[in-house]
Amino acid sequence: MTRLVVPELEPRDPARAEPLLPGEVQLWYADLDSVPGDEGILSAAESARAERVVDADAKARFVRSRTLVRRLLGAWLGLPAGEIALESTGEGKPRVVAPPHAIDFNLSHTGSAWALAASISFHVGVDLERIRPRRPDHDVARRIFTSAECAWLADLPEARRTPAFFTIWTIREAVTKLRGEGIFTLSASFEVVPQTDGRLEARVEPPEELVVDTIPAPVGHVGALAVSASPRAIRAFRVRPDAEA
Ligand SMILES: CC(C)(COP(=O)(O)OP(=O)(O)OC[C@H]1O[C@@H](n2cnc3c(N)ncnc32)[C@H](O)[C@@H]1OP(=O)(O)O)[C@@H](O)C(=O)NCCC(=O)NCCS
Repeated sequence: MTRLVVPELEPRDPARAEPLLPGEVQLWYADLDSVPGDEGILSAAESARAERVVDADAKARFVRSRTLVRRLLGAWLGLPAGEIALESTGEGKPRVVAPPHAIDFNLSHTGSAWALAASISFHVGVDLERIRPRRPDHDVARRIFTSAECAWLADLPEARRTPAFFTIWTIREAVTKLRGEGIFTLSASFEVVPQTDGRLEARVEPPEELVVDTIPAPVGHVGALAVSASPRAIRAFRVRPDAEA
């Protein structure tokens, strides 16, 4: 399967994001604890959601996450960030309701680590996970992973098992999120297959153009990006900590 090549991250202000070019995917990373948030540009629904978050850090991160999403979409659509109408599908994938556009985007956050993928040519899904201690034969894996994936994990040396678990997890999540589904819907038609060179490859039945691969992630995390067909290029950016609020 085609690999997704992510170049070195360029520091950039999201409000000055370059246009999304045909055939490309832009990938943006941020540390949510070092970027500004602006509650004033959130929609009433987003503000209400922020108000429901009891933990002050989690609330601030949500506000900053939505600020970044709006700044980027505003730059790409040529609109003030506060005027973008966002809506989530029944399963929770956000999309821009108006104006007419071709942007598909998806975001992921865990703790302060944040990533967003966007394209005007492809559907995209992105996932970041912090590698945390958990038994790979956990119930969740048994219910979601295929038996071949579970067997492969069980055979790995102890030290490699947890990172490998989360790598399979993020690959499955990225594909799930590209499709805008829930994690339990990706059935046996999808399998992550370890290669002899140690890399993991995804097998989709029936075969489709889908490309999914691991992506750079902050220390202690793993990440994956899924794209509905092979992109011409990926451009990758890191939100500058001094970016405009
Ligand atoms: C809903 C789900 C896609 C969320 O993934 P996650 O790893 O928990 O969280 P992420 O940070 O990667 O993604 C969350 C973001 O993805 C987007 N999103 C939510 N649901 C989505 C969906 N079905 N498809 C695509 N994107 C979705 C949202 O933008 C959300 O961020 P926001 O709410 O701040 O706007 C996925 O985990 C799922 O289906 N979960 C079902 C429950 C489950 O299996 N939990 C596992 C317990 S161990």
